[in-house]
Amino acid sequence: MEYKIAVAAGDGIGPEIVEQAISVLERIGEKFGHKFTYENVAVGGAAIDCCGDPLPEESLEVCKRSDAVLLGAVGGPKWDSLENAKRPEKGLLRLRQSLGLYANIRPAVLYKELADACPLKESIIKDGIDICVVRELMGGIYFGERGQRQGKYGAEAFDEECYSEYEVERIARSAFEMARKRRNKVTSVDKANVLESSRLWRRVVEKVAAEFPDIELEHMYVDNASMQLIKNPSGFDVLLTTNMFGDILSDEASMITGSIGMLPSASLGTEGVHMYEPIHGSAPDIAGTRKANPIATILSCAMMLRSSFNLSDEAQAIEKAVEGVLEKGLRTPDIMSQGMTLVDTVQMGEEIAKLI
Ligand code: NAI
Ligand code: MG
Repeated sequence: MEYKIAVAAGDGIGPEIVEQAISVLERIGEKFGHKFTYENVAVGGAAIDCCGDPLPEESLEVCKRSDAVLLGAVGGPKWDSLENAKRPEKGLLRLRQSLGLYANIRPAVLYKELADACPLKESIIKDGIDICVVRELMGGIYFGERGQRQGKYGAEAFDEECYSEYEVERIARSAFEMARKRRNKVTSVDKANVLESSRLWRRVVEKVAAEFPDIELEHMYVDNASMQLIKNPSGFDVLLTTNMFGDILSDEASMITGSIGMLPSASLGTEGVHMYEPIHGSAPDIAGTRKANPIATILSCAMMLRSSFNLSDEAQAIEKAVEGVLEKGLRTPDIMSQGMTLVDTVQMGEEIAKLI
């Protein structure tokens, strides 16, 4: 079979990590007899530089006619002074919206080899960490009304958080279905003691839960959830939450699993073309130094093989190879600890490809 992948490498470390992910895909193709074709698309700062638009029409068209999209990361200080509509992040938000990508699936797993890189005490992580964040991706405050105006005491700015019943229902259903494939528990995180949008969220999640009597549902306020992630991370199975809370909590979840450079994600939606991307950003502080950990992007490719192409054995081969390099003691700087072997971005990619 031939699979067409649109590749939006983006900015900062994006191109470096995507290059390694593609070499791992090539190794999979060679071993299992598949052909992957890649079409580069400009998104984010790179697109602003080449075409004056963070998501040129041409890029969107290529993504729409591909079988899946692989994204590195977008953004960086170079474009920070641009107005909102022209910023790199706007390109990514528009791409997610245009592809109908409403469910961002972010597994956060602590590999036993990385226990040293986890800042939590051994007694807290003894039962392991295996959380799946299901983050709403097309609504909420990132897409709400916003603006600046002159107020009574000077400049004011506002961002609106709005969720419809329809939006909550479909993301809740994704979470409950995910829980069925895992340990049958959903923790829905909101701020229903204060926010009206969270009260709707809670009501709709309850309604969907009634269709899944085999799944345990627990509600948690976001402030408590951020504490529980540190205090009792093993208590979470599927963590269902809004766009902004999911953005923040998954960065927190990444730290307790060692590094943000380890966590992949899949953005699933209505149009059939899904996007796979590491959860981290473009890391301008380490771009060009070969310090970036490519594992999050490589594991995102494993998610692509499994969810978009139905290639489970191939996905597993990547995941096993990642475990293999960690067992061998190979570490990029973000997960380095005493007695381990320091490798750079390219070496890490090559070693993973070799183990497949
Ligand atoms: P970031 O995720 O890029 O970096 C946060 C910290 O984690 C930095 O110290 C960075 O060096 C480190 N880090 C990130 N990925 C790493 C990797 N693969 N290996 C090793 N270390 C890694 O977040 P930050 O600094 O807040 O944002 C930088 C830029 O990225 C901004 O322009 C931001 O808007 C953009 N961004 C883009 C995202 C996307 O494209 N999906 C998501 C988050 C931020
Ligand atoms: Mg984030």
